[in-house]
Amino acid sequence: NLTPPMVHRIIEECRQEVRTRRPTVGNVGETFSSILSYSSHAPNSALTRAVEEMTPVDVASELTVSGLKGRGGAGFPTGVKWSLASKAEGDVKYIICNADEGEPGTFKDRVLLGKYADLVFEGMTLAGYAVGAREGIVYLRYEYTHLRPHLEAVLEARRQANLLGENILGKDGFCFDIRIHMGAGAYVCGEETALIESLEGRRGEPRNRPPYPVEKGLHGRPTVVNNVETLATASCIIARGVNWFTSIGTERSKGFKLFSVSGDCERPGVYELPWGMTVRQLLELVDGVGAKAVQVGGYTGELVPASQFDRVMGYEDLGIGGSIIVYGQGRDMLEVAENYLEFFVEESCGQCTGCRIGNQKLLDGVRLLQKGTCSNRYLNDLIGLSHSIKSTSKCGLGQASPNVFVAINEHFKEEIMARPVLAA
Ligand code: NAI
Ligand code: SF4
Repeated sequence: NLTPPMVHRIIEECRQEVRTRRPTVGNVGETFSSILSYSSHAPNSALTRAVEEMTPVDVASELTVSGLKGRGGAGFPTGVKWSLASKAEGDVKYIICNADEGEPGTFKDRVLLGKYADLVFEGMTLAGYAVGAREGIVYLRYEYTHLRPHLEAVLEARRQANLLGENILGKDGFCFDIRIHMGAGAYVCGEETALIESLEGRRGEPRNRPPYPVEKGLHGRPTVVNNVETLATASCIIARGVNWFTSIGTERSKGFKLFSVSGDCERPGVYELPWGMTVRQLLELVDGVGAKAVQVGGYTGELVPASQFDRVMGYEDLGIGGSIIVYGQGRDMLEVAENYLEFFVEESCGQCTGCRIGNQKLLDGVRLLQKGTCSNRYLNDLIGLSHSIKSTSKCGLGQASPNVFVAINEHFKEEIMARPVLAA
């Protein structure tokens, strides 16, 4: 577990790196790290170890013991997912790397794919080994089209080195290859079943679950869908072993995490940090100490006001996908709510009435509040509507879309009431 001196050391090491490597503010494509798990990973050491020393069952079991949880945001145990898919019936299985990183304020996967693509592909290949899949697909965000030539080159080099293809690293019957499929710019396709619909050539609309993809995914076959960071981290764990990973982090949140930090702070960027830091410690690191609030976990995450900055980043409290948006004292929180709701109105796939119409109504309400032409009763109705949207939405988009409005009403009510609110 993180002790105060450890946190202090991490902050100091990161600060040192920030000072030496990036003198100017504004480049959010850099990675700063005190652990260097990705950059110090020996190439393909995980795959070599798996092929030479481990059975497919061993690989999934080791990940289960490591406590690795999905880094896309939901935190489902990765080893359990691989194990369920390996036991699912069927000769044809798939591994999908969810690289549809569309959450506003999240750019960690872009950095991983740009700098450590080998590690991500190694993780996919390990998953193929563990599950018994022959095909892997990277579903790449449309806005990351510029990464495709680089990724294709890395894949080709891996084929040449027999790290993909037939009988990988000389292991009889271990055959796996990876292709890239481009998204078309829809945020909702980051939801795994919408992603699968899109891969099958249909509109990207979430399906009902269960069945979960591990049982019935792409083309009705068992499918593992993992986030980019999860796959890269799986490679690190298999290469270095469980003890290394579990020695970092907290009791319920093992290991380290990439945090994309943006907004009103002096040092935005991608930070690789152990789980267990408080929001306040992170703000100290990125020079955002005077903030009035931090959105933890992207637009679908949680708005944390300054009075709660001692909350811990980890699955015991704020288990998140890795996006940190800092709001300084000068931010108008109703404008923040308007911005979020505009995004969700634009990105709703339209299947659920609450999400399709409710978010538009919430946005209308926020605009009335901004103009000072909203009544108290209507404001209360908007809170009621928020709860209805959450409970009647099929996927995470609708379930989380009203969160920011509810949080602003709870923590920044004075900003709402500072404008004229009609009595009736
Ligand atoms: P979820 O908790 O329903 O599922 C998480 C994963 O576990 C899925 O792969 C699911 O198939 C699997 N799973 C869950 N229960 C299972 C079971 N009983 N058997 C087998 N597999 C099971 O979460 P969901 O809806 O997939 O994702 C929501 C999360 O995504 C939110 O927490 C949000 O933070 C995050 N998110 C991330 C974004 C990004 O850009 N990385 C964008 C938007 C949301
Ligand atoms: Fe589509 Fe919204 Fe329903 Fe999700 S909650 S399925 S985005 S309408």
